Amino acid sequence: MQIVFDHVTKRFPEGGIGLEKVSFEIQKGEFVFIIGESGAGKSTLLRLLTRQTQVTSGNIYVENQSVKRLNRKTVPYFRRQFGIMDKEVGLLDYMDLYHNVELALIATEQPEASIRPKVLKALSIMGLKGKEDHLPIEVSIGERARAMLARAIVTNPSILVLDEPTANLDSGLAWDIMTLVSNINRAGVTVLMVSHSKDLVNVMQKRVLTLVAGALVSDEKSGGYNSKAMDIFMYRKVMRRRYGSGYDVREPMDKKSFLGSS
Ligand SMILES: Nc1ncnc2c1ncn2[C@@H]1O[C@H](COP(=O)(O)OP(=O)(O)OP(=O)(O)O)[C@@H](O)[C@H]1O
Ligand SMILES: [Mg+2]
Repeated sequence: MQIVFDHVTKRFPEGGIGLEKVSFEIQKGEFVFIIGESGAGKSTLLRLLTRQTQVTSGNIYVENQSVKRLNRKTVPYFRRQFGIMDKEVGLLDYMDLYHNVELALIATEQPEASIRPKVLKALSIMGLKGKEDHLPIEVSIGERARAMLARAIVTNPSILVLDEPTANLDSGLAWDIMTLVSNINRAGVTVLMVSHSKDLVNVMQKRVLTLVAGALVSDEKSGGYNSKAMDIFMYRKVMRRRYGSGYDVREPMDKKSFLGSS
């Protein structure tokens, strides 16, 4: 197995539960969607995987390497196997697309001569030939998303970690991104993708992990958007399991935030 989550729990100092005893395994080359309401723990799961944050208990293994055991010296090398696209980490607006993508390579100390062809190739795969010297504000929103994807793949990662790569895109543009990600996956790259788009998840028929209040409540081989796993009854079940039968089902602790988004 390329990725193993073994009873991974993440608690935040303020007492919030990010993830609770989440276990699953992912094979090299798989395509996995991660879905769940806002606050369910999707981004936390991805950040634990790429060691942007540490587990509280349990452990994660990537290519048999214990993520808990990584130290300040080994973390940068560990991270090189990931391509990351996160809505929180946009393009630098004062740099053209070429230099935005190049940044990802400079961080990995590539030989100088190999940098330019790699950047141009990544931009070209994403259909951005000719836009290299455009600033992010000088291209369309769909092109910006593709440039972020180019930045994620330019290092030739074996695992692509995408946190809502189609956020803010209309459905046509979202499908463009989906197609590009599919192609990368077909070339053998493992993909973990958080998505709020029911349509996208349903049509793709890929493996779907569903999180509810930090718990993994469903893992389907070629699933659709699992509304049943995400309904209020499942939420109550998870909370009762966590806090015991004393948990008051009439007053879910996070009911507002849980129902706040759809
Ligand atoms: N750095 C942090 N410090 C404290 N609590 C956090 C932190 N990061 C996340 N949390 C909490 O952990 C829970 C899961 O957050 P996470 O960001 O993983 O949710 P998400 O599923 O990605 O939601 P969204 O769809 O809104 O992005 C939330 O209750 C959140 O408030
Ligand atoms: Mg998130």
